[in-house]
Amino acid sequence: MNAVEHSVPLHDFEPDAGDMRDEVMRGLSAVPRVLPSKFFYDTQGSKLFERICEQPEYYLTRAELALMETHLPDMADTLGPRVLLVEYGSGSGIKTHRLLEHLHRPVAYMPLEISRSALEASVGRLAGDFPRIEMLPLCADFTQPVVLPAPVRRQDRTVIYFPGSTIGNFEATRAVQLLRQMREEMGPDGAALVGVDLLKNPAVLEAAYNDAAGVTAAFTLNMLAHINRALGADFDLAGFAHRARFNADASRIETHIESLRSQDVHVAEHTFAFHPGDEILVEYSCKYSRESFARMAGEAGLRVAKVWTDPEELFSLQYLVCA
Ligand code: AVJ
Repeated sequence: MNAVEHSVPLHDFEPDAGDMRDEVMRGLSAVPRVLPSKFFYDTQGSKLFERICEQPEYYLTRAELALMETHLPDMADTLGPRVLLVEYGSGSGIKTHRLLEHLHRPVAYMPLEISRSALEASVGRLAGDFPRIEMLPLCADFTQPVVLPAPVRRQDRTVIYFPGSTIGNFEATRAVQLLRQMREEMGPDGAALVGVDLLKNPAVLEAAYNDAAGVTAAFTLNMLAHINRALGADFDLAGFAHRARFNADASRIETHIESLRSQDVHVAEHTFAFHPGDEILVEYSCKYSRESFARMAGEAGLRVAKVWTDPEELFSLQYLVCA
């Protein structure tokens, strides 16, 4: 990869601290308490997530990269020429880099990413490596519908790229909503390429979300540090712990932050009391079989036209078109 970083003007729909405060207040006032997983991803959180991907237990990223190495030529042929590639969440850009290298004359790349620093870093690198692809970064929450700006050269087709199994963060009804929104944004002739983690042995799943080095625990608790930094709250990170367990009935890893003692936390002139064992739900990571994912896509008016997997069938990339 080329080290040159380019500054690319971005379309700014960055949510402000007021939006975050309202969501945090609502979540901490709810019974049971819940905070959205998007609040993991400030600068520090994005860095910790990159380190999770390097942990031996966290197989997802390695399996997805491995399946891409095998199937990229077929994927590029399937997506077709002159694509506008819209990515939900920009991540480190490694997978995107591999995909852009293989696509046939893509016209533009448009990442939608909530963390401005992560967005600038990844698009800066990609702009240096792909000078002929128009870069159209949007600092935005992809769970909110946005009107996508038009690239200078017109695309043959819009493809929404949603790798990493981030779709797993949404419970079934919200995932269907998001897939419907994708269907709108890609248009009748568009497509979506969605990374989906496959159901497997619960011990393997639980290990992936409880790495021995404690990186996932640090990532989870960083959400509290993020809220402290952004809203001037006073969570004491030493008073809370990361808990991740597999719920077999719901087919998902559920991550909570557990209070280790009685304590008061102040967020924007409100006081929230915690007792030992009190939990805040911070993340679902839903796991699917091929069948259960196809069914959900169907509910959103989409059809699974192709599935690519790694040899061990740990992870999948699902190619979706309008039903
Ligand atoms: C980036 C949402 C796919 O759910 O596996 C990793 C985030 N959380 N370890 C996932 C995450 C804990 C990750 N996604």
